[in-house]
Amino acid sequence: MKRPYVICHMASTVDGKIIVDNWGDSYKRFGSLYEQCHDSFDSQAWMVGRVTMEKDFTEGLQPTLIQAPKPIDRIPFKGDEQASSFAIAVDPRGKLGWESNEIEGDHVIELLTEPVSDDYLQYLQQQGVSYLFAGKDSIDFGKALEQLQEVFGIKTLMLEGGGHINGSLLNDGLIDELSLLILPLADGTPDAPTTFEVSKHLTKNGVTELKLTGVEQLAQDVLWLKYTTKR
Ligand SMILES: NC(=O)c1ccc[n+]([C@@H]2O[C@H](COP(=O)([O-])OP(=O)(O)OC[C@H]3O[C@@H](n4cnc5c(N)ncnc54)[C@H](OP(=O)(O)O)[C@@H]3O)[C@@H](O)[C@H]2O)c1
Repeated sequence: MKRPYVICHMASTVDGKIIVDNWGDSYKRFGSLYEQCHDSFDSQAWMVGRVTMEKDFTEGLQPTLIQAPKPIDRIPFKGDEQASSFAIAVDPRGKLGWESNEIEGDHVIELLTEPVSDDYLQYLQQQGVSYLFAGKDSIDFGKALEQLQEVFGIKTLMLEGGGHINGSLLNDGLIDELSLLILPLADGTPDAPTTFEVSKHLTKNGVTELKLTGVEQLAQDVLWLKYTTKR
């Protein structure tokens, strides 16, 4: 399968928790370190789950839907032919609203499933947001990655949470590298997602073995661990 190289980049507490909201103001001082480490990789795209996109980027904006006059083919749509950097949202049911087709200069691509309404597809086209179909009922990440390379030319992609999207790609053996910032925080919140969560509806595959490729102590007692996955 021809697909982009996938680097999972995350920040977690020492107990593996990733929910920034539980950390009060503590996270603010680590945000720029997270971005600096992100920028050290040469990638054309970053990808997050619907929940992360809604919470951290679109601020819960709902789409305004108007009835589509005719059915729309389930084929990829490119909202910007010139785009060379991308923000990808895994939004299987088409729930996200968009004010613009870019986030800080990165063109938005939605990963959808086929049951999404024609009204929503029309909405995305009007907003100039790109999309592709990655499965009939649930997202097939292998298929999605193939199309991201084939249709949009993406060769390296940063996977940046949340835990459920990371867990799905890990479970499918689609993560090549892990870049993990261990923050000097102990969380302890019960049931809070960790870096990798394989949803109950998926068949859990075996553990993924990693090879340590880098250890760096950063400012403010942050530890930066880098691994590749063993195959
Ligand atoms: N510490 C960090 O570095 C970091 C980084 C990123 C995010 N976060 C935090 O993580 C939290 C959200 O994490 P999350 O794990 O709850 O949500 P998430 O991974 O951001 O999004 C999960 C959603 O993606 C969609 N999805 C579709 N197919 C999926 C599949 N096969 N597997 C998983 N998801 C699929 C589903 O959307 P539908 O519900 O629409 O079907 C699902 O609810 C936020 O609070 C965010 O701030 C932390």
